[in-house]
Amino acid sequence: MCGIVGYIGSGEAAEFLLEGLSKLEYRGYDSAGIAVYDGSDVRVEKSVGRLAALRDKIREDMPKGSLGIGHTRWATHGRPSDSNAHPHTDCSGDFVIVHNGIIENYLGLKEDLIEKGHAFKSETDTEVVAHLLEEVYNGDFEASVREVLRRIEGSYSLVFMSKKHPDRLICTKQDNPLVIGLGEGENFVASDIPAIIARTRRTFIMNDGEVAVVRKDSIEITNRRGEPVTKKVFEVNWNAEAAEKGGYEHFMLKEIHEQPKAVRDTMSQRIAKDGSAIVMDELKWDAEFLNSFNKIYIVACGTAYHAGLVGKFYIEKLARIVVEVDVASEFRYRDPVVDENTLLIVVSQSGETSDTLAALKESKRLGAKTLAITNVVGSSIAREADQVLYTWAGPEIAVASTKAYTTQLVLMFMLALYMAEIKKTVKPERCRELISLLKKLPSQVSETLSDVEPIKTFAKHYGFNEDVFYIGRSLDYDVALEGALKLKEVSYIHAEAYAAGELKHGTLALIIEGVPVIALATQKSVYEKTLSNIKEVKARDAVVIGIAAEGDEELEKYVDHVMKVPETDELLIPLLTVVPLQLLAYYAAITRGCDVDKPRNLAKSVTVE
Ligand code: F6R
Repeated sequence: MCGIVGYIGSGEAAEFLLEGLSKLEYRGYDSAGIAVYDGSDVRVEKSVGRLAALRDKIREDMPKGSLGIGHTRWATHGRPSDSNAHPHTDCSGDFVIVHNGIIENYLGLKEDLIEKGHAFKSETDTEVVAHLLEEVYNGDFEASVREVLRRIEGSYSLVFMSKKHPDRLICTKQDNPLVIGLGEGENFVASDIPAIIARTRRTFIMNDGEVAVVRKDSIEITNRRGEPVTKKVFEVNWNAEAAEKGGYEHFMLKEIHEQPKAVRDTMSQRIAKDGSAIVMDELKWDAEFLNSFNKIYIVACGTAYHAGLVGKFYIEKLARIVVEVDVASEFRYRDPVVDENTLLIVVSQSGETSDTLAALKESKRLGAKTLAITNVVGSSIAREADQVLYTWAGPEIAVASTKAYTTQLVLMFMLALYMAEIKKTVKPERCRELISLLKKLPSQVSETLSDVEPIKTFAKHYGFNEDVFYIGRSLDYDVALEGALKLKEVSYIHAEAYAAGELKHGTLALIIEGVPVIALATQKSVYEKTLSNIKEVKARDAVVIGIAAEGDEELEKYVDHVMKVPETDELLIPLLTVVPLQLLAYYAAITRGCDVDKPRNLAKSVTVE
């Protein structure tokens, strides 16, 4: 996720900018840059790669001046490169900006601005903001920024600097974090508290739609309508390590809580304005393309493989195309039937998993068409695949994957619906209905996260059991697999997921008194059958924790505890049911004193076979 810093005062801006950016490194980035006003001009320095590369570039000749902004970039639009790194400027170089987020309507704005004669230097969505400001500028910096904000759509935190107005920085945010640090004769801006904590602990936390004009000895904040806002000073009393985690104890918990935003960002720009269709500008597929293959393979590892299983369900159900899913480490050793009539979809958060990359390369060699679903722009898998769909989850730091999984699910659902629209296998009314439910998901995920107390209690209660079983049918089974993996990897409890109907073919022998069984029962089409499997384990005195949709009054009659998630279509409910399972794994690990963010024997990215 991009990191933003800004400085105005009497000290050397560059010193703070580099120091602040280094404290934001944990957010993940692929390039960095700073801009400093030296009293007559603005000097912009950028470099792809680590912050050290930027430091090396300017070490002998540091930009001098007391007004500046800086940025670490996590690529979304445009690959990691010097020219795509921020800060970005307009044609004249008068306006300089840094941005975190996505400007959703940038393509239309860019076409318009190019027609008006603006010359773009990067492939980013961000650069339109600088040119738009140049276009609408009327001598009043703040009013012109407000005009820009009226014209852009999307999520952002933005800091504006202008050599025409060197006495101020202007900053604002929508759906992305931004804080102002209050100093003595100097003020700081940052996307996150760790960047400023060494300089001040007194902060203003910006709210959506607020605009702040930050001078060295004053800060004026107004709301969307331009009315003054009185803000309370937030005194930070976390240490630097806690601040990096946004006040959460672990990255895993922070990332679980980031899911509403990650899901929303991944959807954004991919739904037609009138809500009637999925738009995949990255693909531009048509019926001819879909008819050019007769089989789809989804290949991935671990959690991404579990997301692939859900993807198979979506594509088969909605687009009526046969899909096979395989773990990447098996796929290429079993001489798979892959040729030019195959579409291979690889799913990988990191885009670097060596088995997944090797499966992709091998399939390409055999003539398959390839599509990557990944979270990292410019990763090896993104570069190797013919086409790429990005999840916009932001960097995932905890080893246990959480927000990557939910965003992979959203993207695969959208891909399946997109294919269904082309193949006309789903009626337009159903398509609209699913899209309207899809749009509700971010707030429903938030709702699911709003009451963690019962989950903490279960985790404390059952956290010392040796074995836990997860059961479910249909999509509930796929989510059960992911829930069991989460529990295993962070709490080291032996966990097994079973298709509920398969229990009596062997595993039921392990169900004895007191064994915890997590039973997912959200799939209406197999609800009665799931219920009868739950009765089978209950009859063996298992302790059953049921997961059901709101409105289900039946399940609680047969289980010991129930956790409810908001109601939605059964296709979309995996995005909600997985959340309590992630939290259960997290709190079980806490109960057992495990190192949640760095589980034993595991690495975030598996780049060896
Ligand atoms: C589990 C987990 C792993 C990864 C797997 C694939 O929580 O994180 O199972 O899902 O190593 O990694 P990517 O998605 O980076 O290819």
